[in-house]
Amino acid sequence: MKLNWAERWVVNSPTQVLKQRLELRWMKNTQSLVEGAKVLEVGCGHGAGAHLINESFRPSLLHALDLDVRMVLKAKARLLGGDEERISLSVGDVVHLPFKDNALDAVFGFGVLHHVPDWRGAVREIARVLNSGGHYFIEELYPTLYQNIITKHILLHPKEDRFFSHDLRDALKDAGIPLNKTREVKKAGIIGIAIKKR
Ligand SMILES: C[S@@+](CC[C@H](N)C(=O)[O-])C[C@H]1O[C@@H](n2cnc3c(N)ncnc32)[C@H](O)[C@@H]1O
Repeated sequence: MKLNWAERWVVNSPTQVLKQRLELRWMKNTQSLVEGAKVLEVGCGHGAGAHLINESFRPSLLHALDLDVRMVLKAKARLLGGDEERISLSVGDVVHLPFKDNALDAVFGFGVLHHVPDWRGAVREIARVLNSGGHYFIEELYPTLYQNIITKHILLHPKEDRFFSHDLRDALKDAGIPLNKTREVKKAGIIGIAIKKR
């Protein structure tokens, strides 16, 4: 589901970029990637995350995609500039990823699944494209934050089948990519690293 004006404003703010920088730092310090890793970011928004992923992990290939063409255009303006051999962007849906099975070493997703009506399908799709031992770096929010008495009137999110910690953990485990390392604020949200079983 695309963002409304209010959430676009939040997501494009400098505070969000700072938050993402801190999350990426934790991810990098917690889990390294293989040399020459092939990496995807789903729901890349305006490209700040992909920029930081590129800086921190220096993947050999980085593809970023988003459902919203306006976001992809912003991300292209931020990311492309002579590095098109290594970095590419496209409009795309996390539930139907344009990659073969086991094609990628890592997938990153910051605040995306809680925007996706079929978030369980998205988790299965991410598991499909990861190679065995591949990593899914995830940051997500729970409905307490985005569907409370105030935010539900301002922000636009799917309403059915939302997830809290145990739902997300179960879905990742069922898809064969159990969460391995996490930092979680109870009822608010989680950052973590899931690993595809060998
Ligand atoms: C809360 S924003 C986060 C953007 C970015 N990851 C960040 O942290 O700044 C969620 C993003 O997911 C995108 N999105 C929503 N549903 C999607 C889907 N099914 N497939 C791909 N992207 C999606 C939205 O367009 C939006 O850019």
